[in-house]
Amino acid sequence: MVGVLDSGVGGLSVWKELVGTLPDEKYLYVADSGFCPYGPRDKSYIIERTSRISEFLIDRGADIIVVACNTATAAAISTLRRNYKIPFIGMEPATKPAVLHSESGVIAVLATQGTFRGELYMGTLEKYASQTRVIEIVGNNLVELVEKMEWDTPEAERLVRSYVEPAIAEGADHIVLGCTHYPFLTKTIEKIAGSKVKIINPAPAIAKRAREVLAGIVPRNVYSEDSDWFCTTAEDTSVLASMVGMILSESRNNVFRKYKCTTIRL
Ligand code: DGL
Repeated sequence: MVGVLDSGVGGLSVWKELVGTLPDEKYLYVADSGFCPYGPRDKSYIIERTSRISEFLIDRGADIIVVACNTATAAAISTLRRNYKIPFIGMEPATKPAVLHSESGVIAVLATQGTFRGELYMGTLEKYASQTRVIEIVGNNLVELVEKMEWDTPEAERLVRSYVEPAIAEGADHIVLGCTHYPFLTKTIEKIAGSKVKIINPAPAIAKRAREVLAGIVPRNVYSEDSDWFCTTAEDTSVLASMVGMILSESRNNVFRKYKCTTIRL
């Protein structure tokens, strides 16, 4: 079984790629929506939350854990890898491909405060982006909108416009989605950025990496559930259930996939 965690429903943008690439796997997803957003929190808080969630996933039989959250990866992945034996796959803003393909020499990265503070992000910039202008945009309040499925609203458009337009005016030809909640805003971002600007979402690469790592795990844990499970630390499961339903209804091969949603206390 593949464990997936995020501060909320954003990691479903990664699960969508995982389930497309690895449809024969079973998934256990934890949305920490009761404690979302992680972006402005300090490192120790995120380590504490993600450790609890990881223990829950490991106890239930996860073979790997996908940390489908850039902020959690930046704050906690090295601690999680040190403390638990199973493989962890993390997220990092895909600045490298954006830098390599940029023609204007200007790219924009849209992420949370916590992700910009992370060593992974800063290390990649140092290594690859010395000749590129990188415009860093903290997407304040975007996570909150996605947590309410309000990505197609005038407020979402107003906020995205205020973040994206100045970067486009400065010549950015790539926008890196450095938070797993943001792919749900892709249509709005595209509308504002225009068709010449490339939007980069690293989720497909994460799914390929998960496939490679899983191929190396023999034997696998025994897991007897016949449905995927989606758990949230929020009181209400309706947003999580609606988003899973929406993703599956848009999928070619997984339309009839079985899933269950529940609230958990962690
Ligand atoms: N999905 C998380 C990420 O990728 C959202 C961060 C948050 O909770 O602020 O960074």
